[in-house]
Amino acid sequence: MSGSLRAASINTAVLKAATLVSPAGVELTLYERLAFLPPFNPDEDGERPPREVAALRTEVARADGLLIACPEYAHGVPGAFKNALDWLVSSPDFDGKPVALVNCAARAFHAQASLRETLVTMSARFAPEAFVTLPFIEPANDAMALAADERFAVPLRAALSTFAAFIHDGWAGRRR
Ligand SMILES: Cc1cc2nc3c(=O)[nH]c(=O)nc-3n(C[C@H](O)[C@H](O)[C@H](O)COP(=O)(O)O)c2cc1C
Repeated sequence: MSGSLRAASINTAVLKAATLVSPAGVELTLYERLAFLPPFNPDEDGERPPREVAALRTEVARADGLLIACPEYAHGVPGAFKNALDWLVSSPDFDGKPVALVNCAARAFHAQASLRETLVTMSARFAPEAFVTLPFIEPANDAMALAADERFAVPLRAALSTFAAFIHDGWAGRRR
């Protein structure tokens, strides 16, 4: 999930690059409907939530884990992305969901800290190494160029491998 709605988003490009460098056995699906979610309203968060919200919840339920890349706006999480998280608070499938955060800007630590706090409150399960701050490499919004650059692709692939192992171990732990 990208926290940005911009067409030339660095965060979205990083997630697209992740699909290009993902290790064998890891399949990434980009959530691209953030702009279509209605503003969160607890009154509408009942048994029949809005259609877009139901679709988001279905996608989250299907995913073994969530990889999130989110920008920082005014030292916080962009409203559109926090809106999506608010719709997921009451989603039973979010409980225990493995989550990894990719940070594309080292200086943007406020939003990362806020995201962590929110996600922990939502009972997400973080891998110990699930917080990756990637080097800034130009052109930062070109997924193909990022995927082709070792300075970027190597740590990104390593983070994905670690995250996949964390998810796998979690499932194995539940079976034991
Ligand atoms: C309204 C606004 C506020 C911003 N506030 C911050 C900030 O507080 N800290 C920061 O590091 N960057 C801030 N930025 C810069 C964005 O985080 C940066 O441009 C980022 O690349 C946007 O992500 P995107 O390329 O995925 O859209 C701000 C940008 C905008 C438009």
